[in-house]
Amino acid sequence: MPKQIFAKLIKKEKLLDNLYKFSVEAKEIVNIAKPGNFIEIRINENLDPFLRRPISIYNLDKENGILEFIFQVKGKGTKLLAKKEEGELIDIIGPLGSGIFKLEKIKNIAIIGGGIGIFPLYELAKEAQADGLNVNTYIGFRNKDLVVLEKEFQMVSSHLIVTTDDGSYAKNGFAIEYLKSDLESKQIDAIYACGPLPMLKAVKQLAENKNIPCQLSLEEKMGCGLGVCLGCAVKTAGSPKEEPQYIHVCKAGPVFDSKLIEI
Ligand SMILES: Cc1cc2nc3c(=O)[nH]c(=O)nc-3n(C[C@H](O)[C@H](O)[C@H](O)COP(=O)(O)OP(=O)(O)OC[C@H]3O[C@@H](n4cnc5c(N)ncnc54)[C@H](O)[C@@H]3O)c2cc1C
Ligand code: FES
Repeated sequence: MPKQIFAKLIKKEKLLDNLYKFSVEAKEIVNIAKPGNFIEIRINENLDPFLRRPISIYNLDKENGILEFIFQVKGKGTKLLAKKEEGELIDIIGPLGSGIFKLEKIKNIAIIGGGIGIFPLYELAKEAQADGLNVNTYIGFRNKDLVVLEKEFQMVSSHLIVTTDDGSYAKNGFAIEYLKSDLESKQIDAIYACGPLPMLKAVKQLAENKNIPCQLSLEEKMGCGLGVCLGCAVKTAGSPKEEPQYIHVCKAGPVFDSKLIEI
């Protein structure tokens, strides 16, 4: 059951221009959260902006009850959030969403993320590594100025590929090309992806062609985050037995079996 708490901001770090990492005291949420969950943040007591903003959980420090999230300043809400200072309380509801589904009997996973989509994948990689899985990670960025968390992902991956679209840092091109090529020689039992829609579409196709179970984390526009406003509907793929229908990313997702949804 999600909790609403006032979490103390204990560390604020600027990772890049317009990109912040917040560490908050949130024992009640940390105790029950799992990889792939997200939180909804109320930006202001005066309800302007009115809607909470959804942000993924980046890291769960279970020992100390610390929750970390990373956000990019985009519009009004995140601009105001970035102004919060250490010591302030932040109104948070979480954990929300289904989170990642644990698969049984897998040994080798591939994690692929692009841009801000890499944040929810860190806790997954960390927990998978702690469970003894081989974690193959592919993270892509537009250019070298946007590369973040390389060291952090290195620590939780057995194999890490970093790419930039323009080749200005690390490997040149899209992360999926390197995953595709590794699939020719490596055993991969499951794929997890989060990032821009074109990337997710390509990962879905690749996984389904290769018959590898795949989970996608969608970052649909959201209003309430609680299944009430209908702002985040996506269409299911349907089946011979079932007509396609609309489901809520905030309740049923944001993580889905790739075969379940049409994107
Ligand atoms: C499940 C989920 C997890 C997310 N995790 C992260 C994360 O870890 N880090 C990060 O930087 N961003 C993340 N986002 C995107 C983030 O929620 C938006 O960037 C943010 O809501 C923008 O708010 P704003 O007020 O600054 O921008 P505005 O554009 O002013 O926002 C206006 C409205 O649109 C909604 N909105 C705008 N862009 C998005 C978007 N991309 N996704 C969903 N709603 C949006 C806002 O919630 C708000 O209701 C996530 C989105 C979802 C749905
Ligand atoms: S965000 Fe309101 S129903 Fe999903």
